[in-house]
Amino acid sequence: MERKFIMDTSGKTITCRAAIAWKTGSTLAIEEVQVDPPKAREVRIKMISTGICGTDDHAVKGLLSLNFPFIPGHEGAGIVESIGEGVSSVKPGDKVLTLAIPQCRECSSCLHPKGNFCEKQDVLPSSGLMLDKTSRFTCKGKKIYHSFRASTFTEYTVVPEIAVAKIDAAAPMDKVSIISCEVPTGYGAAVNSAKVTRGSTCVVFGLGGVGSAIVMGCKASGASRIIGVDINEEKFPRARALGVTDCLNPHNLKKPVQQVVMEMTRVGVDFAFEAIGLSDTMIAAWDSCHRSYGICLMVGVASSNSQLSLNAPDIISGRTLKGVCLGDYKTRDCIPQLVTDYLQNKINIDPLITHQLPFDQLHKAFELYHAGKTIRCILLF
Ligand code: APR
Ligand code: ZN
Repeated sequence: MERKFIMDTSGKTITCRAAIAWKTGSTLAIEEVQVDPPKAREVRIKMISTGICGTDDHAVKGLLSLNFPFIPGHEGAGIVESIGEGVSSVKPGDKVLTLAIPQCRECSSCLHPKGNFCEKQDVLPSSGLMLDKTSRFTCKGKKIYHSFRASTFTEYTVVPEIAVAKIDAAAPMDKVSIISCEVPTGYGAAVNSAKVTRGSTCVVFGLGGVGSAIVMGCKASGASRIIGVDINEEKFPRARALGVTDCLNPHNLKKPVQQVVMEMTRVGVDFAFEAIGLSDTMIAAWDSCHRSYGICLMVGVASSNSQLSLNAPDIISGRTLKGVCLGDYKTRDCIPQLVTDYLQNKINIDPLITHQLPFDQLHKAFELYHAGKTIRCILLF
């Protein structure tokens, strides 16, 4: 059946449903779109599931500089429908994840042993176009932009080959979409980037999807104390179940949260993570670290043009401030392994998924997200 279906659509424009952000802050509209066939070194994917990440919400609200109208979503799992000329790493029928940060294996980041922020990324800045500077999406005769080399809120998408990773054929496609972003971003920040040490103290600002995955990583690394900070106390029970030992709501504190963390730990934490994307909480995370050996990781995506202001003389005391994207993983090399690790019960992503809804209930999913009810809601096509 599938073979016949693949032969029917390959090389042809596909008409399907997709969510479009027409203008800044407007509600997403589910529309009929035309998806062009993949050009050379591109892959067309039939989406199976996609997570709603905080970054998608920032993008739709216009907090990041993206070109409108665009199709949001970057945390996706799907099956390759067809491939363009010269594609060799995937073939029709393969299970794949979309990658918001590609791995071209040719640029300065990709060639450096530690770099993962590939120069072919389209997040900072974002053009919303494929590598040849054109789009594959049209709606009502209008060009629709892509987002983050992914655009997963659509039944079919087209991405460059460098932004797609083949995963294990046994992967449960209704779940593994979160291994395209949330899991490497959070869990990876703790285990791979910070390399949280056994017996250490940690603080995590933001206990949403990404923060929860950070907590999982801290716990898996043997942290002895994990302080969780969130203004939504509904997030606390699940965070505790994942390993948070102390929960703080900054709104209920009489002192700045960093001062409370300092007092709780006497000297400051070994590792601090910011998973919200706000300058204030970034500063609070920095100020929560041990002055000499504390390591502060910035995981949240801040809004465009926002600035971070730190006390300059304090810098010399020795703390490390590090930004991290997708857990510093070289995406095509490392993300498929996380899927395999999940299949082999080495990591358990299930507690990170709180909701699954059909794609046409996208608005309900965003309502639940805005109401602070979700850790991750996955949309199913
Ligand atoms: N102080 C503490 N917690 C806050 C604050 C604040 N000022 N503002 C928001 N929060 C909490 C929210 O209550 C929520 O639980 O931060 C959490 C953010 O989680 P999500 O909205 O689920 O977003 P998530 O997908 O986890 O992404 C978090 O990481 O990848 C980036 O762009 C993404 O910047 C975003 C961040
Ligand atoms: Zn690269």
